Amino acid sequence: MAECDPALVLPKPSHPHDSARLHVSGAARYADDVAEPADLLHLAFGQSAQACGRIVAMDLSDVWAADGVVAVFTAADIPGENNVGPVVHDDRLLADGEVISHGQPLFLVAATSQRAARKAARLGKVTYDIAEPILTIARARAAASLIEPTQRMARGDAEAALVQAPHRLSGGFAMGGQDHFYLEGQVALATPGEDGQIHLLSSTQHPSEVQHLVAGLLNLSSADVTVEVRRMGGAFGGKETQAALFAAAAALVAAKTGRPAKFRCDRDDDMVLTGKRHPFQIRYDAGYDDAGNLLALALHLASDCGASVDLSPAINDRAMFHADNCYFIPDITIVSERLKTNTVSATAFRGFGGPQGMLAIERVMDHVAMALGRDPLDVRMANLYGPGRDVTPYDMQVTDHIAPALIARLRATSRYDTRAAAIDAFNAGSPILKKGIALTPVKFGISFTTTHLNQAGALVHVYADGSIQVNHGGTEMGQGLYVKVAQVVADVFAVPLASIRNTATRTDKVPNTSATAASSGADLNGMAAYEAAIAIRERLTAFLARTYGCAPEQVLFTSDGVLVAGETIPFAHVARKAHIGRISLSSTGYYATPGIEYDRAAHKGRPFYYFAYGAAVSEVAIDTLTGEHKVLAVDILHDVGRSLNPAIDCGQIEGGFVQGQGWLTTEELVWDDAGRLLTHSPATYKIPTASDRPRRLRIDLWDGENAEPTINRSKAVGEPPFMLAISVFSALNRAIAATKPDKRAMPPLDAPATPEKILNAIAGHRL
Ligand code: MTE
Ligand code: MOS
Repeated sequence: MAECDPALVLPKPSHPHDSARLHVSGAARYADDVAEPADLLHLAFGQSAQACGRIVAMDLSDVWAADGVVAVFTAADIPGENNVGPVVHDDRLLADGEVISHGQPLFLVAATSQRAARKAARLGKVTYDIAEPILTIARARAAASLIEPTQRMARGDAEAALVQAPHRLSGGFAMGGQDHFYLEGQVALATPGEDGQIHLLSSTQHPSEVQHLVAGLLNLSSADVTVEVRRMGGAFGGKETQAALFAAAAALVAAKTGRPAKFRCDRDDDMVLTGKRHPFQIRYDAGYDDAGNLLALALHLASDCGASVDLSPAINDRAMFHADNCYFIPDITIVSERLKTNTVSATAFRGFGGPQGMLAIERVMDHVAMALGRDPLDVRMANLYGPGRDVTPYDMQVTDHIAPALIARLRATSRYDTRAAAIDAFNAGSPILKKGIALTPVKFGISFTTTHLNQAGALVHVYADGSIQVNHGGTEMGQGLYVKVAQVVADVFAVPLASIRNTATRTDKVPNTSATAASSGADLNGMAAYEAAIAIRERLTAFLARTYGCAPEQVLFTSDGVLVAGETIPFAHVARKAHIGRISLSSTGYYATPGIEYDRAAHKGRPFYYFAYGAAVSEVAIDTLTGEHKVLAVDILHDVGRSLNPAIDCGQIEGGFVQGQGWLTTEELVWDDAGRLLTHSPATYKIPTASDRPRRLRIDLWDGENAEPTINRSKAVGEPPFMLAISVFSALNRAIAATKPDKRAMPPLDAPATPEKILNAIAGHRL
């Protein structure tokens, strides 16, 4: 086990993030740091004051007359398609008569400063024909308001198996959404080029999609639009589709005025304008036996998708794919209802629906354990996938049975059983403070479930001085993708990492890319860059073999240089020689994930290339008088295969865990009865702070390798650790349960477990 204690010297591949020095010294350039041209226009949206209705009239004369305003645009000014939606084209850049959510952009102001643009944007006089908005899952269901037909994934006959099961229980709970709270807000800078071309600097996870949407908006071809992103200051799924709104606005203004235009969104506006994680409501009906084996499950997942389709179909599919987590359930029905409401469209967020599905089944595990009066970990262990009980509800076989061994090891190293007993003793003597402990596992499917997205391209240049530029379709958002891909290329040539320069992701370098999402950035782009580097190395090998009259097998790339016929030549000399020998030193590389297919109509197939695993033990304490809690200690054991970079991976695990902790404890989104988001700033929306990070957070890496031939036999790490935080929610549940003498009653706890919710759960529990 490699341990992520910074005091320990990490193994060699743990290079620092390629921008670490620039990040901490403030020298890393984000889109907003690029020097502003003199004639730059700044942008702001005029936003809807209603959540639902029609625009009867829009008087923008005061906006036009305001200080610094250069131009004002409405939907009528868009030359092409008025759309920023990714799949179904139902997301308007500017409202075209219909209003579907509060804060929706109605018109766009271009002014000489950001302040002038924002002030002027509030001066529009808009008359609405107001309709009553749908703001809750319950109302949406009553109105049959759906973004797509309800989906069903099933195996066996859950209804019949429920009737036959020795025991049966049912329940339900709700979980909230989550704002991404990336530290760098949404930003785009559009520069008009010659002959109608547009260049965009955009803080986007998906440069190709921004390119295609902007081209459609302006009636240009994709070849006329170039999108560039060197780095984002965090994205977390919030810049997968949402960045297009700001890029499209900037591109429209640049095209219309011939001047560069920048949209740097203010934090409060950002929180109102952009989509968030989907809130879910869960209902379950479970059949089980005395040993805690889950025999039958009817699970109902209802999500609030907001006002447009966005990525909701795939996100809700992923919730279904993770509603089994690590457990074999012989007869199961998962029904997934995707409701349309008048709040800003919900969107991708780390885990992409997986956390919601997984929390549902983990709550069922807790409920079964409570009902049987057993330790929840024993019930979890009893239900794990294993040989002979290894097929998921979507018919994919689980072949690498990592979870049982991983959980067993963590159970031992964290001293789970001793601590659980100590906590019981503590609770017996502590009327006010109660503690809880829980171990929950994670099994997360790796691949885009939309199969064609699993492809990537790269471009590698070796210069005649031996330095190397690496480019690929993936974007850097802090997760360390660039350094991992650079390491792959450095390894191919056996050169130091310092020889590699990462260059900004650009649609004119690598075309038709997928979003950097689904945690697959390193798997896909790492392999594409590997292919590109290998192509160049093979050319160099053939050239050297020819030149020195030896067999290609006698050419070896070593850290001392290239070994040819007994001679060691520095890599730089090889590059120079090859250039003079007229050998191409540049190559593209391409990779498509093999072996995956999925029939969405039937919800059957092999959507994932493999699974990433992990488990966490969390120990918490609650104050039963105030509802406050503290996460006291966390032990994590996580499977990243053969890590490309253990230090980066540990950072992902820690960050993912704490972000998941925020989702389940402190981050609460509140809308009022008119559909206005009330929690649109850090003053009212509480992300975890340094003091919320558990004092003791021990992270160990599982010492396995990927059974599939991924790059370096590594596994994806971006999203899976987020779900380790379910252990916090489960531990809180156990602490609340300890407030009641009847240990078999399940506390009515919703997420996030704010002090208010914890107090309600204690109160409801005592009834
Ligand atoms: N880590 C940092 N520091 N910042 C981020 O925005 N996004 C997460 C995860 N880790 C994110 C992050 C999400 S939602 C995904 S899908 C992956 O990183 C994307 O990058 P990868 O595919 O290279 O892992
Ligand atoms: Mo991550 S939610 O797949 O961008």
